[in-house]
Amino acid sequence: MYPGTEGLPPRVALLQLITASWVSHAVRTMAVLGVADHLADGPRTVGELAEATGTDAPTLARFMRALAALGLVAHDAAGRVGLTPLGEPLRAAVPGSLRSYALAIAAPSVERAWHDLPNALRTGEPSFPDVHGLGFWDYLAAHPEEGALFDAAMTGSAELRSGVLPAAVDLSAIGTLIDVGGGQGRMLAAALASAPGLRGVLADRSEVLPGAEAFLDAAGVRDRCDLVAVDFFESVPTGGDAYVLAHIVHDWPDEQAVAILRTCHQAMAPGARLWVVEQVIQPGDEYDRAKLLDMLMLVLFGAQERTADEYRSLLQAAGFGEVVIHPTDTPYSVIETVRH
Ligand SMILES: C[S@@+](CC[C@H](N)C(=O)[O-])C[C@H]1O[C@@H](n2cnc3c(N)ncnc32)[C@H](O)[C@@H]1O
Repeated sequence: MYPGTEGLPPRVALLQLITASWVSHAVRTMAVLGVADHLADGPRTVGELAEATGTDAPTLARFMRALAALGLVAHDAAGRVGLTPLGEPLRAAVPGSLRSYALAIAAPSVERAWHDLPNALRTGEPSFPDVHGLGFWDYLAAHPEEGALFDAAMTGSAELRSGVLPAAVDLSAIGTLIDVGGGQGRMLAAALASAPGLRGVLADRSEVLPGAEAFLDAAGVRDRCDLVAVDFFESVPTGGDAYVLAHIVHDWPDEQAVAILRTCHQAMAPGARLWVVEQVIQPGDEYDRAKLLDMLMLVLFGAQERTADEYRSLLQAAGFGEVVIHPTDTPYSVIETVRH
């Protein structure tokens, strides 16, 4: 059951589900206006905030009331508006900021694909290419501002999965870790920080690498890291003791997912490890955000979230053998296999 609806009369709970996108619109608009950054130095009057955000003060006062109802801001006794701990990660310049995530995942281009979910269910095909005339990755390449926002969004959301490798596997035995589709390198940076003897290779689309270089530099690990432009359907770097695919396989339908895994298999030497970091769908009807993420994967890519057995089948189809799944105390698991 959707969190917060337990125990409510069915019609009341249903109204909450029907209108859940209102919340998303409000959070995205808070990010668009940069409200959290304008409140970073402490509470301000609505008038001050309206001037800073270029908005109409009486209308903004109503918006602040809505945001306060969601717990993202709070009014003090003098009526000024301040940021709450829930609103804090919507600041742009805090570690693990989710501002880019709010802007990119709730972007109008993505929303338009969601609106076509009924059609995606009829056809089993993604709606994003129909709506925009381009597949998602080509669209990002053609719209560099949205592309940069998406990369930053992944870095923000990668905060949650960044620590899973050091927590779940032994990095001390690894000389070189190759992060395939590593984005800006948030996960690689965490792995390098946790294992001083480790070297890293970040392999991603060429458009992503300048942002990755800046990120790895700022994280203080650039000197232990190479950056390589790849198309992971063609090739990935050889020479890794371990390869990680974090939040990659779920972006692709089975055929392409197997193709990416095969490219890795071909590049890997016998004994090299592969770590697939994903949310593994559990059996049963429990609420799991990944079951809704699954629908986003459908509309964007015609792709899907998967169960443990589905990940095993993909890996076996790509030539890998035994699979061990390491759950973590995050929503992510490390799905481990070895190249024989
Ligand atoms: C959902 S993001 C995941 C990024 C990162 N691993 C993380 O955990 O946040 C998917 C990544 O796959 C990369 N990608 C998409 N198509 C690719 C391709 N054909 N070759 C290499 N990388 C690709 C994207 O640029 C993006 O960085």
